[in-house]
Amino acid sequence: MINEAKMLEFSEKGDDRGHLVVVEAIKDIPFEIKRVFYIYGSDSEVIRGRHANRKTEFVLINVAGTSKVKVHYPNGNECVFSLNKPHTGIYIPKMVWKDMYDFSKDSVLLVLASEYYDPSEYIRDYDEYLKEIM
Ligand code: TYD
Repeated sequence: MINEAKMLEFSEKGDDRGHLVVVEAIKDIPFEIKRVFYIYGSDSEVIRGRHANRKTEFVLINVAGTSKVKVHYPNGNECVFSLNKPHTGIYIPKMVWKDMYDFSKDSVLLVLASEYYDPSEYIRDYDEYLKEIM
């Protein structure tokens, strides 16, 4: 059973000094955060991701700029999410194939992950992904 990706909306603690968004493990995102990384300097031609993860769940937040995320499910369904507000994110469960693309020049894509980095839990071959999921 594969869970679906979904948009998350975080509350903005804004006042006349500016905005603040806080994201707490378990409360605002559905896992304990073990790893944080961010992606910037990709442009509108680049496609990143192109993988599924056997164990890791992610939340992606464009803290600056914009990008898109396309998720593929084993039944052939696809869904495109636009990340275009610093107080929204997308939750990506494990075993979902994902592409990140259409990065604006100023895009800073913050990624929160449920697991430490382990290259062996990444599936980078789409046929292998389909084989494991069926
Ligand atoms: P990659 O998984 O290709 O990035 P993306 O999912 O955005 O396409 O990772 C790029 C490089 O960074 C690759 O050499 C692996 C390394 N990396 C780490 O060392 N630790 C990490 O947590 C991540 C996400 C990547």
